[in-house]
Amino acid sequence: MSNTIDVRNPATGELIATIPADSQESINAKLKAGYEAFKTFSKTTAYERATLLNRWAELILEHQEELAEIMTKENGKPLKESRGEAAYTASYLTWFAEEAKRLYGRTIPANSTNKRLLVTRQGVGLVAAITPWNFPAAMMTRKAGPALAAGCTFIVKPAEDTPLTMIRLLELAHEAGIPKDVIQIVNGRGADVGPLFTNSPYVRKITFTGSTPVGKQLIKESADTVKHVSMELGGHAPFIVCEDADIDYAVTQAIASKFRNAGQTCVCANRFLVHESVIDEFSEKFAQAAKALKVGNGLEEGVDVGPVINKKGFDKITAQIEDATAKGAKILAGGTTFFDDEKGFYFVHPTVLSNVTLEMNIMQEETFGPVAPITPFKSDAEAVEIANSTPFGLAAYFFTNNYKRGIYFQEHLDFGILGWNDGLPSTAQAPFGGMKESGIGSEGGTEGIEPYLETKFLSIAGL
Ligand code: SIN
Repeated sequence: MSNTIDVRNPATGELIATIPADSQESINAKLKAGYEAFKTFSKTTAYERATLLNRWAELILEHQEELAEIMTKENGKPLKESRGEAAYTASYLTWFAEEAKRLYGRTIPANSTNKRLLVTRQGVGLVAAITPWNFPAAMMTRKAGPALAAGCTFIVKPAEDTPLTMIRLLELAHEAGIPKDVIQIVNGRGADVGPLFTNSPYVRKITFTGSTPVGKQLIKESADTVKHVSMELGGHAPFIVCEDADIDYAVTQAIASKFRNAGQTCVCANRFLVHESVIDEFSEKFAQAAKALKVGNGLEEGVDVGPVINKKGFDKITAQIEDATAKGAKILAGGTTFFDDEKGFYFVHPTVLSNVTLEMNIMQEETFGPVAPITPFKSDAEAVEIANSTPFGLAAYFFTNNYKRGIYFQEHLDFGILGWNDGLPSTAQAPFGGMKESGIGSEGGTEGIEPYLETKFLSIAGL
């Protein structure tokens, strides 16, 4: 295990911090402390826990500008998006502060007059979270909010690329009054920390946001100790534009969905399926709008699209563009890059591809970058068939003003999150989760606290 982690600004390659990595001993000691802390924290009232979560959310909003700057420096997203993420981060805490108060049980009518049957809910225990670099803050509170609301204790390992936001968020959590052992951070490489979490007898639940291969590995490793698992994994979202859609409006939503965070979101539109009768109009307007986006250092005002996170991401994106163009795709916008291997920064201009066919890699794999491939369809049934022809099932979007068509897509698309004329459906009060290989469980909404709860049944006899 390496002792330190270098954190670099992906827009410049500049080293912005070197932080200590936790040793194996330190991680095990923190896991034990979290396990012990559960014994007292789980006995607090929902109202006490709600007060702590609300205070933490207030502090996040009071430090919105500071957090946004840290996020932009280590992740690269434009400041306006980082400010938005800080608010989004707080919204999960205020939502789950209220949900804590609604952890109701049940009484069940017994089949005998001398019996009473009760069902109660309680927190699962110590929760270990592994969070991604693309949303360094919000993906943590989407897990910590329900965990703490349920009375669980929580330990988080942030992505190596973006630990600084998390370090600051944890300081604010402690300043809000959440005891130090109730919410803890460990820093290290995923391959080192993951097995310590999954093998630990102290951890009762693993929650992860990241790639499908890593999620599968964590599920396997969690099997030996039969841990609860929640997985928010990869996506390959279709964005369907029907012949009756408002094309100008669909273009604005496509831009927001595709190019937010430089296309590095699990839910971002990855495959544009456009009815053959409107494909030319949509493609041209979409390409024009993509060309108007300003690419650069997210710290500069007016920038819309920042860098991609690292060389590995950049290589995958550019390989997909090369594969598509070699197989006949046409570049309508972008297709160009600027990077510096020595300094270590990588930018891809917002790219729109037409003449795309389903065999191209970009239609088979998640891109995680600012590239939009467009392909035609002839009927709603064909759009659904193409959309569902993937092992992923996270988000899907469809644009139509015909209510029968909208309901048809709602009923036939195998995805956990649907946006009907909506390119940005994520919100704290609604469930966020995938079907098929996109994940297990939902985060957010009333569903989001369920994965942090055990059910206990009590039968009372002899009355
Ligand atoms: C993600 O990409 O994992 C999260 C995006 C969101 O919450 O909208």
